[in-house]
Amino acid sequence: MDKLVSSWYNDQSLPESYIFPPHERPGKLLVPRCNTVPVIDLSDTRTNLVHQILKASQEFGLFQVVNHGVPPNIMSETMSVFHKFFELPAEDKASLTVYTNDPKRCKLVTSTLDYDREKIHLWRDVLRHPCHPDCIEFWPRKPLRYREVVAACSIEAKKLGLEILELLCEGIGIEHGYFEHELTEDLLLGANHYPPCPDPSLTLGIPKHFDPDILTILLQEHISGLQVLKDGEWIGVRPIPNAFVVNIGYILQVISNNKLKGAEHRVVTNSSDHRISVVFCMNPAGNSNIEPAKSVVTATNPPLCRGFQFKEFLDNFYSMEGDADLALQPFKL
Ligand code: OGA
Ligand code: NI
Repeated sequence: MDKLVSSWYNDQSLPESYIFPPHERPGKLLVPRCNTVPVIDLSDTRTNLVHQILKASQEFGLFQVVNHGVPPNIMSETMSVFHKFFELPAEDKASLTVYTNDPKRCKLVTSTLDYDREKIHLWRDVLRHPCHPDCIEFWPRKPLRYREVVAACSIEAKKLGLEILELLCEGIGIEHGYFEHELTEDLLLGANHYPPCPDPSLTLGIPKHFDPDILTILLQEHISGLQVLKDGEWIGVRPIPNAFVVNIGYILQVISNNKLKGAEHRVVTNSSDHRISVVFCMNPAGNSNIEPAKSVVTATNPPLCRGFQFKEFLDNFYSMEGDADLALQPFKL
């Protein structure tokens, strides 16, 4: 495994291989942590929720939810388990995450899976694994309560995600239950650790991307870093205690035939704090058929692409270095 950035960040200035080209760098400009990203109170009436979630998903592709019903202790214990995990010595972290290509296994990498081939490295370490109960035996055994706490949080995240998808279905006129089975079968966890960075103006934790999934449910703490692109401008996603950030994935944009907007987002680093974020990505099963939902396609809104298997898209996505638009290109009509 390549050396985790968290094991050497303190020893040197920013290496050349982490410096992004000028047009991608965050620069010194402080992007305001605006209040403009919608915050949706899930205890509101259903009619209001359908309207608000639809509006947020069309305008931003990203919003935060509060009063979502996930117990706050599950959220704080989850963050605490990941703090403890990332504080372990690098050798322990490596030994807890056997590196193989088996998709059921946990992977701990620095930057991306493509470290050896990528031109520029990302200022982060990331732990990934599927959340399916069959895979729990491969999850880290340390910290002690990892499996219990992360299992509880992943169940809540999936439940919340399905609720939000139901509201979106109602909003755009897709039949009830459309996303309930195959299309959200694989819940994947990603835990990002961004250590303090010697020069946040030159590098990124994650550059601009769409998540290649249906919906992403993100847990963060009080340290900001996530930004969303809106009308050509980067907007900071203000951390709110006990909120989840929800973003529309590229595949949901496709299924909605562009009625919903996938969120283009990135992560900036900072020079003083460690930041940890936990993402739950709702992914279709590899062999599921992805196509614009029949109910949203009309004569005036013809399908933007033909049907394809999710795994065909993912193969393209990874060979196109994470460019979702390019990955969809072969299927466009
Ligand atoms: C991701 C991502 C955001 C964050 O993991 O895909 O966008 O705040 N993470 O870490
Ligand atoms: Ni993302």
